[in-house]
Amino acid sequence: MEQYLNKNIKEVIDLFPAIGDILSEYDVGCSTCHVGTCLLKDIIDIHNLTAKNEKELMAKIAKVIYPDREVEALDLVSKSGSGPKEISYSAPMQKLVDEHVLIKRLIAIIPKLIDNLDVESPEGRQLIINSIDFIRSYADKYHHAKEEDILFKYFDESTAILQVMHEDHRNARAHVKAIVEALDSRDKKAIAEHLNAYQAILSEHIKKEDEILYPWMDRNLSYSQIGKLFSDFNTKEVEFEDIPTRSETFIKGLEVIYKPPVVVK
Ligand SMILES: [Fe+2]
Ligand SMILES: [Fe+2]
Repeated sequence: MEQYLNKNIKEVIDLFPAIGDILSEYDVGCSTCHVGTCLLKDIIDIHNLTAKNEKELMAKIAKVIYPDREVEALDLVSKSGSGPKEISYSAPMQKLVDEHVLIKRLIAIIPKLIDNLDVESPEGRQLIINSIDFIRSYADKYHHAKEEDILFKYFDESTAILQVMHEDHRNARAHVKAIVEALDSRDKKAIAEHLNAYQAILSEHIKKEDEILYPWMDRNLSYSQIGKLFSDFNTKEVEFEDIPTRSETFIKGLEVIYKPPVVVK
């Protein structure tokens, strides 16, 4: 079993496709991840399953690898209680989770932006330009820069999970660039396609960070590192001046257009 725990998950799933389905049952989406270089043992740690689920999962995996043997499932991570508890983030991680909320508010409006795409009128074009400005200045520079320039540097960036995060950021940037180009050529179809792709990538990405990456990082940072991280974030934020307030105002304006409040008669 040890040899498989130290193999990357893509190889394990290639050898034993049923393991991909077992992981999905426990909400561990390795079979849809195109990087797949996490080691099987790291995946179990990163996903912070309950002790019971971890044991069950390992027993099912062992059964697939050794169908004819009685294999004792290993406890990879010693856990007390029935864990995991409600996620409670450290202060710097909570900042990032809060920033995700504003980004998710834009993501929620993307279908309406697509339905109402107008690439001809100055107002229609300006709305797309302003949405791109929000994505670039808030989601990408303010938020992703904090992750890439500060948070990720506390960890070994060659690990698979961080490679996946970097790749998501790069893919999201590529779609934003494609939206700008499509706006120049007034190509509504391409704008809609890339907005949809951006929405899909960012929704999944934020879920991975909120539920898997940040809790795992919190578990692996010392108190003093968390304090330093918080102060690094505060220093970085000063560079961005009014970007957070301007971004929130923009999203509120979009919500007024696309999600009018319910009027109680
Ligand atoms: Fe990210
Ligand atoms: Fe993020």
